Amino acid sequence: MENAGAQKCALILVKYQQLIVEAITYVVDTDIPINNQNYLPNFQRPQVPLSSIQELPQALINYVWRTQKFQVLDDATTEAKWVNYSYFTQQQPKSILCTPIINQGKLIGIIYLENNLTTGAFTSERLQLLEMITTQAAISLENAFMYETLEQKVEQRTQQLNQKNQRLTQTLEELKRTQTQLIQTEKMSSLGQLVAGVAHEINNPVNFIYGNLKYTQEYAQDLLNVIQVYQQNYPEPVDEVTNIIKEVELDFLVEDLPKLLTSMKVGTDRIKKIVKSLRNFSRLDESQVKNVDIHEGIDSTFMILQNNLKAKPNELEIKVVKNYGNLPKVRCYPGELNQVFMNMISNAVDALELIRNENNNCSPQITITTDREAEKFVIIRIADNGMGMSEAVQKRIFDPFYTTKEVGKGTGLGLAISYQIIVERHGGKLECISTPGKGTEFVISIPL
Ligand SMILES: Nc1ncnc2c1ncn2[C@@H]1O[C@H](COP(=O)(O)OP(=O)(O)OP(=O)(O)O)[C@@H](O)[C@H]1O
Ligand SMILES: [Mg+2]
Repeated sequence: MENAGAQKCALILVKYQQLIVEAITYVVDTDIPINNQNYLPNFQRPQVPLSSIQELPQALINYVWRTQKFQVLDDATTEAKWVNYSYFTQQQPKSILCTPIINQGKLIGIIYLENNLTTGAFTSERLQLLEMITTQAAISLENAFMYETLEQKVEQRTQQLNQKNQRLTQTLEELKRTQTQLIQTEKMSSLGQLVAGVAHEINNPVNFIYGNLKYTQEYAQDLLNVIQVYQQNYPEPVDEVTNIIKEVELDFLVEDLPKLLTSMKVGTDRIKKIVKSLRNFSRLDESQVKNVDIHEGIDSTFMILQNNLKAKPNELEIKVVKNYGNLPKVRCYPGELNQVFMNMISNAVDALELIRNENNNCSPQITITTDREAEKFVIIRIADNGMGMSEAVQKRIFDPFYTTKEVGKGTGLGLAISYQIIVERHGGKLECISTPGKGTEFVISIPL
């Protein structure tokens, strides 16, 4: 600018078919000499369209853009062509040079220089020098612009790629979930069908035995009465009768038969309960929302798993503690909720395996607590005093196919499915609180 003898200097670039003012420099006169010079350059980078900058002669610059020819005015205010031009009448500039920056025949920008102190400031020497500078500048600018566009493009592409990546991850997650659902639905529906089928088959003969047991008890009592009356009226029976009384141990039989029949009744009662639990658990007929007693579902699940809780050689029995609160009937998918109880209690049984085997003072226990929260939720806590989980394991337990169990023992689907059932199907919450070596508690909340 100093070389060109200018006081105002602007660099305007053509970007997206528009003139954009990239930079303006003014020379402000000052009394304080800086680097032995009495002016202070003021540099600005507005980077806005030329049409919004009033400090530049827009008409003149547009003219240079259109014609691609430079304009040198020795005294702008007296120049015939621009005599009524408002910018010149207001600003009163003297010497003006407006030159296009051309690279390979294409106008890429304009340099505007203005001096309002002296006329004829832009001599042919200065013009030559400027021409040289603008040619160099043109190449650098074109490169810079290309680089900028390239950078923008790279950024755009990176963004697009990121978006695609995200979408892919989402799709993969969805696929995994669908797969989980399919496998579990298949597993549960075949298990459910099997259970329901067996329950049905057992139900008929059990009812048959149960119904007849009452009469058997009555008939047996009648027969015993008859014997008693006989004995009273014929206290001295013939030898044959005495012998057979001895042989069958009549006294013992009379005493034992009612007990035997009572225990048969207790047994059939239990079978009936188990059958009821099996049917309750499979709930094949109830794939719709129903108002049910949650405690019934939990009880049936324990009934089904009873064999897993019982003491075995070298294994302690798992104690079950039920702290049932006063719950209303809950609107839910009963069959699905039972699946959740099944998954949780099975996990608790697995987690207690170590304690059961070791001969220590700790007794393996599963505690079920139910409660109501602010009339809005039903809370079911399923806790065990088993091995617990590390934080790293806890973070992944709801991931489909995540298991720490040996191959063939766990599929890693139990909790993933339980989460779906509670959170997605029932709009509830499922939380896990666990301390390694101490135990685990799952808290299920179902909205009322
Ligand atoms: N009560 C618990 N105590 C300790 N760890 C548990 C408990 N419940 C779950 N886990 C951990 O969470 C993991 C995932 O459980 P999840 O029920 O989803 O699958 P799994 O039991 O391994 O297999 P399955 O599909 O047969 O249920 C288990 O492998 C176990 O590491
Ligand atoms: Mg499990």
